[in-house]
Amino acid sequence: MAQRDGDYYDDHDLYDATARGVPGDVAFYRDLAVASGGPVVELGVGTGRIAIPIAAAGIAVIGIDLSPAMLAVARRRAAAAGVEARLHLDEGDMRTFTVARPVPLVAIPFRAFLHNLTVEDQRATLDAAYRALAPGGRLVLNVFNPDLALITVWRGRSRRARVPLDADGRVEAHHDYAADAPAVTSTVPGAPACGCAAPRSRCATSFGRRWRAC
Ligand SMILES: C[S@@+](CC[C@H](N)C(=O)[O-])C[C@H]1O[C@@H](n2cnc3c(N)ncnc32)[C@H](O)[C@@H]1O
Repeated sequence: MAQRDGDYYDDHDLYDATARGVPGDVAFYRDLAVASGGPVVELGVGTGRIAIPIAAAGIAVIGIDLSPAMLAVARRRAAAAGVEARLHLDEGDMRTFTVARPVPLVAIPFRAFLHNLTVEDQRATLDAAYRALAPGGRLVLNVFNPDLALITVWRGRSRRARVPLDADGRVEAHHDYAADAPAVTSTVPGAPACGCAAPRSRCATSFGRRWRAC
C-alpha cells in the first residue's frame, strides 16, 4: 500500500513550514504545462503550490490527492488566486486515478511518487499515468537521486539522521533509513491535534518514502 503515515499531510501549517519544494520546480512544471497546451494532471497536488501557478498561466489542471485537508487548502488558495475555474481538484489515489479524456502531460512533482512504498504500487501509478496520457504525451516526475556510495555504507544497517526541514533549522526531522531497503521513514515533530492529552510540541507524525524500484 502507498502510505500516508500519520497526519503530516493533514496539517498544512506544518507541511508549509517544512516543505518548500525543489528550487525552480514551479517554473519547471509551469513551463512544461504551457508547452503541452494542457489540460494537465498533477498527482499528489497537495496545497496547489505548483498547480495554481499552472492554472494562472492559463492551463487547465486536474489535481489529484489522497488528503482532503491538503485539497481544502488548495481550493481556498485557488479561489484567492482567481483560478478555481481552471483547477479541478479531486480526492483520489495516484495508483488508481482515471481521467475522462487523455491529457498531454501528467506531472508528479516534489517526490510524491516516493509515497509508493512497494514496486507494485509504483507500477500501478505508472500504469494509471500511462492510461491517462494521449499519444505522444509525457509523464514527468522527480525523485531523490540516490547516492550509491551512501546506500552501500548503510546496507544492512538501520541509520538514523537528524535533518533540518525549515530554513532556520527550528524544525528537525528524524530520518530513519531502513536496513536492507531503499526506504526512509521521516518523523516530524509538531503533529496536529491528534486527540491525545500531550501538548502539541510532544506529538510527532511520520511518513515513509521509497526512492528506487529494486
Ligand atoms: C510532498 S507533497 C507534494 C505536494 C505538491 N505536489 C507540491 O509540490 O507541493 C505529496 C502529496 O502527495 C499526496 N499523496 C501521497 N500519496 C498519494 C497517493 N497514493 N495518491 C495521491 N496523492 C498522494 C500527499 O497527500 C501530499 O499532498
